Amino acid sequence: MWLLTRQEDVLYALKHPELFSSSKLAGALHAPWLGGPHPLSSAMSFADPPRHGRLRGLVQQAFTSNAVSRLEPFIRSVAEPLVAQMLEQRQVDFIQAFAVPLASSVIGHLMGLDTFLFRRVKRWAEDVVAITSMPAGNTARQQQVRSSMEELTAYLEEALEARRHRPQEDIMSALLQAKVDGEALTPPELLSFLFLLLAAGLETMVHLMGHAMWLLRESPEVFALVRKEPARIPRFLEEMLRYEPPTQGVLRVTTTEVELSGVRIPEGALVMPLIASALRDERHVRDGDRFDMDRTETTHLAFGHGVHFCLGAPLARLEARLGLEALLPRCGGLTGRPEQTVWSPALTMRGPVALPLEVLPIDRLT
Ligand code: HEM
Repeated sequence: MWLLTRQEDVLYALKHPELFSSSKLAGALHAPWLGGPHPLSSAMSFADPPRHGRLRGLVQQAFTSNAVSRLEPFIRSVAEPLVAQMLEQRQVDFIQAFAVPLASSVIGHLMGLDTFLFRRVKRWAEDVVAITSMPAGNTARQQQVRSSMEELTAYLEEALEARRHRPQEDIMSALLQAKVDGEALTPPELLSFLFLLLAAGLETMVHLMGHAMWLLRESPEVFALVRKEPARIPRFLEEMLRYEPPTQGVLRVTTTEVELSGVRIPEGALVMPLIASALRDERHVRDGDRFDMDRTETTHLAFGHGVHFCLGAPLARLEARLGLEALLPRCGGLTGRPEQTVWSPALTMRGPVALPLEVLPIDRLT
């Protein structure tokens, strides 16, 4: 694998999908034991222009900023009781007590699932991701993943069917109605898009909230500042995304030989533009290893760049802000032992998968 670490090389690769292809990654999705196409095989993350543009244009009609801001009351209604529960329990694993249930509920809600299914969203997301890393011959796990995918497909088809007959004020109904030049998403494209929400929008969100809480625990002065001035939460989150981007790198395959910074990369090579490295590149970011909420450089690479720029970025920013707005006014401090944090071993992602904390109630504030 070829790693791109300089900011200009990362940007170049992301700006040139004709040289650094996403559709050529689709081969990695091939899993004959699934007995059918991979749930993500028709998703836009594995498409290049011009097909990508058609898919993106269609889903963008549903993912408008208005549609996203309409989710605000729902997000608050999930975040607030989770905060109350954490304050009652005091000793919690923040990932299981807050980040996972909040992110799962939002994705479950977007997918049109019934509330009682939100608890299963995390497992479904893990199973979608597991398909591409399944060890050969592990037939028991293959069977488990296959039935998990069948189960979710059945729920999604039911939810889509209900909205076909009776559209609601939600993103799923808008997806069904979206049209470009009279053409709508085909049923497999619609299903793949809903599966993509799981693969792209759950773990990333959990990691962003996990990183934020980890930093607030490590730096009481930053905690005190954002708690006192909630208007600085968005700035805090932007620097968090630069300092610890949940998606550390993305994958591409070269369509021809390419020369970058004097290095020749052959055709057909697997390339990882390292977003995390680009965001600390000393040629562009001063003292990049330091968390600094007042820095003025604005390199918005944490959500990618170019045609595949994250569709969920406004939602991710909203969800993380509302999560912190629910927590900070009621929390007097965070303590915990850094060595108890468990980090994800994933190749392209980074974030805590366990983050034990003591959440001190407000009356303990000194
Ligand atoms: C902090 C949270 C998030 C981060 C850091 C993040 C990061 C990214 C990045 C780096 C990409 C580009 C991938 C590439 O170029 O191959 C991407 C794409 C995407 N993200 Fe996000 N994401 C986040 C949250 C979300 C959420 C909440 C959703 C949806 C609910 C979402 C949906 C998507 C989709 C659909 C794409 C594919 C876009 C395309 O291929 O055109 N993401 N995301």
